[in-house]
Amino acid sequence: MSDIDVSAIDLVSPDLYRDGVPHERFTELRAEGAVHRHRPVEVLPGQGEVTFWSVVRHAEVQAANRDWETFTATESVTVAPSPAERQGHMLVSMDPPDHTRLRRLITAGFTPRMIQRLEEHVTARTERILDDVPADGRCDFVRDIAYLLPMHVIADIVGIPEEDRPWIFERTDITLRALDPASPLTLDDQRNAQIDLFTYAQQLTERKRAEPADDVWTLIAQAEIPTEDGSLTRLEGLELEMFFIILTIAGSETTRNALSQGLMALLERPEAVARLRAEPGLWHTATEEVIRWASPVLFFGRTATRDVELGGRHIAAGDRVVLWYPSANRDERAFEDPFRFDIGREPNPHVSFGGGGPHYCLGANLAKLEVQVLLSTLLRRFDVEATAPAAWAGGGPVHNVGVSIDHLPVALRAR
Ligand code: HEM
Repeated sequence: MSDIDVSAIDLVSPDLYRDGVPHERFTELRAEGAVHRHRPVEVLPGQGEVTFWSVVRHAEVQAANRDWETFTATESVTVAPSPAERQGHMLVSMDPPDHTRLRRLITAGFTPRMIQRLEEHVTARTERILDDVPADGRCDFVRDIAYLLPMHVIADIVGIPEEDRPWIFERTDITLRALDPASPLTLDDQRNAQIDLFTYAQQLTERKRAEPADDVWTLIAQAEIPTEDGSLTRLEGLELEMFFIILTIAGSETTRNALSQGLMALLERPEAVARLRAEPGLWHTATEEVIRWASPVLFFGRTATRDVELGGRHIAAGDRVVLWYPSANRDERAFEDPFRFDIGREPNPHVSFGGGGPHYCLGANLAKLEVQVLLSTLLRRFDVEATAPAAWAGGGPVHNVGVSIDHLPVALRAR
């Protein structure tokens, strides 16, 4: 035990996240215990104060993540609960059996077999993106490369026409960035971007109902889901709209961030790059390590449905609980030498895609494919050098993907 004042650590302060995840703070917290009471804080202006339990060790994050009956997602997965009218409308914030019905519907689009078929497609997209880098090789890896691959791949799967993509992904970006108090964007910008996306989702639904195609949005628009009383219902309104936002955000921001942090980790370790070039078979473990290292989702929130013991603390029914994934991914109890970026790490039980349970990331196989294909193709085709320090962005826990690399200037030289 150290003698830090746990109650003095404000994990939701945006200032703590200006240069990435504050790993020193989480390491201090893990040394003190698995679960800590966080003092009352206001996460977003006007939302009111919330107090919560911080779960910072691997075993307890996994246990709480898997026990959906004790730790319900329905009040929201952010730090503070959502307003009542917004609760339970998103896949991420539903519990079984409603969750199971909706999830089954789209799982068809994300099986390992489908992802296998996508491999060719992801490879072709990657080559095209790399063909388009400026002739002098100077570019921003985040904006010019990492942004494009997840955006096009998720848009291909969902069935968003190519010409609409920049417009949509500009708005998904705004919905996240506007929550950062340091951003010039306002909460009004955020609301307007969301309204645009909702309207687009409705139009896309109508289009797919009229002209079905071989894509996930046709599946969703046409699906008839059995309700509890056995009757069939179509997805409408807020559920559809929120689903569209979840798919576009979950499928793009997270993977972009894994790619950027992965490249940065590799550029800082030329010996790892040399090893991967000599032994491409290592990409499998290297990809998992990139995803552990980056841990792009900062946290997921839950609410206790009953009194329960977790990590030696008594959590009361109704208490908010926050699972900190980057902390669990650096837990000395679960990983040998967790602060070493080890491209051969095995086993690697990271919780970047969640700690297991019904909400385990639907896009995990897809995200791994994109990370492996893009980084391996980049390093096969180019020598890469960072030309300026990376710039971070995000307001921390104002939302689940609240800290990411915003710019990573690089020079690419064809090999
Ligand atoms: C490196 C990239 C990614 C990371 C780190 C990541 C992480 C996560 C995490 C932590 C969860 C919540 C797990 C839980 O509550 O137990 C989640 C859920 C989800 N992810 Fe991902 N994700 C990534 C990429 C993707 C991609 C490419 C998609 C594409 C569709 C995607 C779609 C989803 C969806 C739809 C859910 C909600 C599943 C549910 O509630 O049942 N994710 N992801």
